[in-house]
Amino acid sequence: MNRRKFIKVSGGLLLAGGTTGYLVSDKTAYTRKNQQINTGSGSPLKEDEYKILYLASLAPSGHNTQPWLIKYIEPCHWIVCNDQTKWLPAVDPTQRETILSIGAFVQTLEYAANTMGYSCEFTLLAQTPQNAEVMDVKLKKQAGVSPFEKEKIELRRTVRSGYQNELLKPADVNFLLNENKSALYYLPNNSKQHLWLNEQTIEANRKQTWREDAQKELAGWIRFSGKDAKQHNDGLTAASMEAEGLAGWVLRNFYDDKNVMSKKFREQGLSKVKQQVSTSAGWIIITSKDSSVENLLETGRSMQRLFLKVRERGIAIHPMTQILEEQPFNKQVNAELGITDPVQFILRTGYVKNYPQPVSLRRPAEMFLKT
Ligand SMILES: Cc1cc2nc3c(=O)[nH]c(=O)nc-3n(C[C@H](O)[C@H](O)[C@H](O)COP(=O)(O)O)c2cc1C
Repeated sequence: MNRRKFIKVSGGLLLAGGTTGYLVSDKTAYTRKNQQINTGSGSPLKEDEYKILYLASLAPSGHNTQPWLIKYIEPCHWIVCNDQTKWLPAVDPTQRETILSIGAFVQTLEYAANTMGYSCEFTLLAQTPQNAEVMDVKLKKQAGVSPFEKEKIELRRTVRSGYQNELLKPADVNFLLNENKSALYYLPNNSKQHLWLNEQTIEANRKQTWREDAQKELAGWIRFSGKDAKQHNDGLTAASMEAEGLAGWVLRNFYDDKNVMSKKFREQGLSKVKQQVSTSAGWIIITSKDSSVENLLETGRSMQRLFLKVRERGIAIHPMTQILEEQPFNKQVNAELGITDPVQFILRTGYVKNYPQPVSLRRPAEMFLKT
């Protein structure tokens, strides 16, 4: 029997037609903790290499596409590649965000190597954001490598709800932004730029959700059922979108990509965005010197260095990139914020009381390894 037959969702009220349906349903979310971490047997990777690539894969990426591949050259010598099949042409037609995500991956790879006493030597290969080979990397085990805590990589996550409105403390602002004060900005929630970003994030989301190609692309990256999530190990799940309890159960069991295209789903998404921007300590902006591959990679790296620092201070980060993806917002953002360099990241930020565990999925290394 079609599962849709024994459930009716109406005006938020859910009437389940018996416990049998519930018992055979997707009751618990498939999340990171359910994923098995292999040790790389069957691939040319040595155990250390496998562990480093597993940690590197915990980097963030738009829609959690994980747009990286590793071309294996020899032990401890790889090329980080750009996986064209993971591009997001509707929201990222120039692969700007793909390169930022690969930058975040490269930074995580370096820190991951450091956790195990390896240093990394990188050589840039890509000239354009579309080139297949991005960065050559050689790992060297040596004394004196600055250590990095593995748990920081494992526990980092995007947090979308539960933000406090309390402003970031000056000491925390300094801790987060002192690395590069000319590329990192904190716009507190009492500034006029904050208000503009709040309002225009809603408008840019409204524009994007009604853009058919963008919404279709999003639908293709949502893994509603546990089965789908387990098969793909990527994309956005009910858990990673923070649909918990009954809402999560309904999404996992009764939604598919057709629902994403419905008016109701788009309107619910917009309400969620409104709710999200209504709470925060403000926004963090990251700029780059220019839009060259080299500087986009460096900006992705700098975003990830920041992202790996926030949790220890109880601070959350939520990239909200629609202003940068939609016109006319992306043409207005620099003037409205009074910033000259190109804006590459718009991150909602704030303190959260209970920092949730990471739940987003990752492909195991053998799925992104090219030999
Ligand atoms: C370049 C980039 C753009 C992103 N844009 C958004 C966004 O617009 N909205 C959002 O909710 N999350 C956004 N994210 C966060 C990703 O969805 C998130 O990193 C991914 O789902 C993996 O989850 P995790 O960060 O918890 O590991 C973005 C991340 C990156 C790197």
